[in-house]
Amino acid sequence: MYSENRINDVIVFFKAFVSNQIARFAPRLYLKLTHETGRGDRPESAWDIADYFRKCMEEYFEQLGIDHGSIGEYLQNKYVLEYGPGDIPAVALLMYACGAEQVTCVDRFLLVSLSSKNIEVLACLLSSLPDRIRKRAEFAFNVKGDLSSGFNTRCINYLVDPNGLSGVIDKFDLIISRAVLEHVNSLDDTFSDIKQALKQEGISIHQIDLRSHGLHRYTPLDFLTWPTLLWSSMYSHKGVPNRWRIDKYREFIDEVGLKVIKMNPVLLAEQKDIDAVRPYLATPFRNISDEDLSWMIFWVVLRK
Ligand SMILES: C[S@@+](CC[C@H](N)C(=O)[O-])C[C@H]1O[C@@H](n2cnc3c(N)ncnc32)[C@H](O)[C@@H]1O
Repeated sequence: MYSENRINDVIVFFKAFVSNQIARFAPRLYLKLTHETGRGDRPESAWDIADYFRKCMEEYFEQLGIDHGSIGEYLQNKYVLEYGPGDIPAVALLMYACGAEQVTCVDRFLLVSLSSKNIEVLACLLSSLPDRIRKRAEFAFNVKGDLSSGFNTRCINYLVDPNGLSGVIDKFDLIISRAVLEHVNSLDDTFSDIKQALKQEGISIHQIDLRSHGLHRYTPLDFLTWPTLLWSSMYSHKGVPNRWRIDKYREFIDEVGLKVIKMNPVLLAEQKDIDAVRPYLATPFRNISDEDLSWMIFWVVLRK
């Protein structure tokens, strides 16, 4: 294992081990303490957060090659599934507002909350939408336009499952996620769930962030040098990165029989960061090529 200070590593291990037990036996308390999102940990205003979700929405359609003016037509009568919306189902709201018939969200943890901050975010988002789209968004709430009344499940539906799986068969036209697949506890089960939930002609699109999520100590990739047993003793109940690299994504996608329409990197690691950890990599990563190790953030678009 890569180290520059053994005593520091022992302390890191024990702290993470104890918090993993908190996450195991008191998951709600753990979530309250950590409050993880895909947006990093900078302080953010409601407008910043709303902008993040607008960007997510735009990027999905950019990647799908659908221009801004055709999104409404594309989404009409479509059923959308989002894995891991975090605490604000804002992308789900945008998908519904732009024309989707219904959006289902599925998460491993019960995170969605209509706190006053989250309602403020949704209000910023709504106020930035063109009239026609904002009016449709208002119907997504139990009381039209009253954000605190909660989501009308005919429009936006939220499922929580211990493994974050939908269990739905042949229903969805579009399946999305962002900053989620790197957290799932069983990536092959999630890909099987995606395949099962997609309609025959459906499309599935995901942005995946394989960076350390702040869990490196001295150099960006040293989190890949913790032996598997130690890593899972520290993080197995927290929903933090499962550490699978691009090679496993290809393998699982192939195994479940999904077809790759495109897979493209957004961010690659620097060679010097790979060289720094190469001799110390944990067993599952030892035989991965430098090129595969370099994929840090990427998009994948899939079909059945
Ligand atoms: C980093 S957050 C990303 C939230 C949101 N997509 C965003 O971009 O801000 C990761 C999300 O994935 C969820 N998650 C973790 N494991 C999951 C699983 N097995 N299935 C579905 N969601 C999962 C987390 O609970 C959380 O909602």
